[in-house]
Amino acid sequence: MNLLNIDNLHASIGDEKILNGFSLKINSGETHAIMGPNGSGKSTLSYVLSGKDDYNVTQGNILLKNENIIELSADERSKLGLFLAFQYPIELPGVTGMTFLRTIINSSRVAKGLPELEGIELVKIIREKATELNISQDMLKRFVNVGFSGGEKKRFEILQMSLLDPSIAVLDETDSGLDVDALRTVGSGVTNLKNKDKGMLVITHYQRLLDHIVPDFVHIMVKGKILESGGPDLAKIVEKEGYKRFIDAN
Ligand SMILES: Nc1ncnc2c1ncn2[C@@H]1O[C@H](COP(=O)(O)OP(=O)(O)O)[C@@H](O)[C@H]1O
Ligand SMILES: [Mg+2]
Repeated sequence: MNLLNIDNLHASIGDEKILNGFSLKINSGETHAIMGPNGSGKSTLSYVLSGKDDYNVTQGNILLKNENIIELSADERSKLGLFLAFQYPIELPGVTGMTFLRTIINSSRVAKGLPELEGIELVKIIREKATELNISQDMLKRFVNVGFSGGEKKRFEILQMSLLDPSIAVLDETDSGLDVDALRTVGSGVTNLKNKDKGMLVITHYQRLLDHIVPDFVHIMVKGKILESGGPDLAKIVEKEGYKRFIDAN
């Protein structure tokens, strides 16, 4: 089943055109990776998918499970099963991790037509999942992302993702600052969540994350669109030769 179909997407921030005819299809069970040099529009793509304000889609379509989502709010997109993990996750001063997770779990359950869970039950589910991901109970008492290290932010993001159980997850990786442990957390978090019903899109600058998440397809993005697509070998070529060869060939 097709989960995400991005077709000839053009998007700009103010007068600046960033996405220039970006197309990508993701079916259930597939993991795709997008790689590209800095400034190629990878993070912009994730913001446009999320429905963030200030990003104008000037042409093209984004279909999520065959529904056009361009006019939908970020909240509505999330209720359709889209999950986004950003390169720079937002801080929520005053909102503890536990409160935040309880809220998002129940609102996603309501969106799926499931009954809300009671507090005690929610806390149990959250604690169990946190333990699995090596997240301390103390971290859940802290305000979301406030003062978190890069690795802690990633771990918390993976916790959110595991609890929400989205149909399609888009992860925009930081270009630096992820230590080996954080890479492993993201890698195993994504790998554990993979199944035949879900789709994953991993956006990364470096090949090293793809040692932990083996993609079915790799796409090279330059100047707002995909220049070349292939299998995991494409990532190895990037690791060896950089992006120059893809840029020169186009
Ligand atoms: N808020 C913004 N206003 C203007 N230009 C932006 C903004 N955010 C990103 N850009 C520009 O868009 C291009 C793509 O950026 P980005 O999507 O962050 O690339 P990547 O994630 O691939 O490094 C860059 O040229 C960047 O300077
Ligand atoms: Mg980026």
